[in-house]
Amino acid sequence: MPTIGVIPGDGVGPEVVEQGLAVLREAAGRDGFRYDLRTFDLGGERYLKTGEVLSDATLEDLRRCDALFLGAVGHPGVPPGVLEKGVLLRLRFAFHQYINLRPVKLYPGVETPIKGKGPDEIDMVVVRENNEDLYVGAGGFTRKGTPEEVAIQTSINTRSGVERCLRYAFDLAKSRGAARPFRGLSDAERGRGLVGQVTLVAKTNVLTFAHDLWMRAFDEVAADYPEVKADYQHVDACCMRMVVSPERFDVIATTNMFGDIITDLGAVLQGGMGLAASGNLNPLRTAPSMFEPVHGSAPDIAGKGIANPVAAIFSVAMMLDHLGGSSTAERIRQAVAKVLRQGVPRTPDLGGSATTAEVGKAVKEALV
Ligand code: NAI
Ligand code: MG
Repeated sequence: MPTIGVIPGDGVGPEVVEQGLAVLREAAGRDGFRYDLRTFDLGGERYLKTGEVLSDATLEDLRRCDALFLGAVGHPGVPPGVLEKGVLLRLRFAFHQYINLRPVKLYPGVETPIKGKGPDEIDMVVVRENNEDLYVGAGGFTRKGTPEEVAIQTSINTRSGVERCLRYAFDLAKSRGAARPFRGLSDAERGRGLVGQVTLVAKTNVLTFAHDLWMRAFDEVAADYPEVKADYQHVDACCMRMVVSPERFDVIATTNMFGDIITDLGAVLQGGMGLAASGNLNPLRTAPSMFEPVHGSAPDIAGKGIANPVAAIFSVAMMLDHLGGSSTAERIRQAVAKVLRQGVPRTPDLGGSATTAEVGKAVKEALV
């Protein structure tokens, strides 16, 4: 029986996690999917009380779990970086969660701000490299605090780290295409046997060392996947095209920082931060993977009971896919889809007036 480590965290984190777990309990009960829960008190509140972010002992306790479900960390009273580096990045690196998987899918009934586009045009997945790049914390200051100050932050790109990310993206495009061929392919491309597409998003025209490595690895990996079309976009053009023609994207593979940025844009395409889910995956399964809504602790609405729990509920479904509970995951996605389609109840971020708990309850009741 898998053990799920739960980190409710700060702000709206505990509010949306509560609904995620309630839906999990109900859906799992129907399928006889059994699990243990273990809750971990981490985040800004705890740091302010104890001065501790994440101890080595707690890290080892988390490692013994089969998957982790995180709400959000982030506290207005804690300086930027302490929790992001001390909890999120530490877990992602320590547990070799080298893929950050972020589906961008517009569900029927949800409005996108992009004029003339609907669920048929917005259905992509971003595979963000999650262990390298500018986020490893390599760098430093000299002459700090003086007018001559120098700050350096180094982007780390290893051949093996890049390649495993790209292989994950191509495998994903292949399996998505096997289920349903990517609609953006031309008849001629389908005739040649193509079923899916991976778009590498980088900046090869300026980052001529790091992204040269990415491009060479991309070309080599692509050769192993004749059924997947290899596509390339510079990151700035990608932002423009995600808005103008989102239908041209299937799977996007990108660096840690570019992925961080373009997935907030992706969240907007799919209806907002309240709907976007993510998985920090260790595909080798040598340590737990971690599932979390893309949004943060939302201090502006925390404590009001109006946060949208759907992103957290979708994250639970991704976690179930990873734990071998795909039928339960699908059951949950269908229930959320039904609630979104019928239009009520919905939280204020989607133009409604319902509470977090009311949406959670509606999803539970929509489970079949
Ligand atoms: P945020 O995602 O918390 O909020 C951005 C905007 O989206 C706010 O207006 C918020 O009200 C809205 N929003 C977010 N989640 C929502 C939900 N479930 N339902 C309805 N509206 C929602 O990002 P922000 O404000 O930049 O960061 C707040 C704190 O969260 C910071 O301390 C930041 O470091 C942290 N953070 C943590 C993350 C994590 O734990 N993975 C990710 C992003 C930010
Ligand atoms: Mg982000």
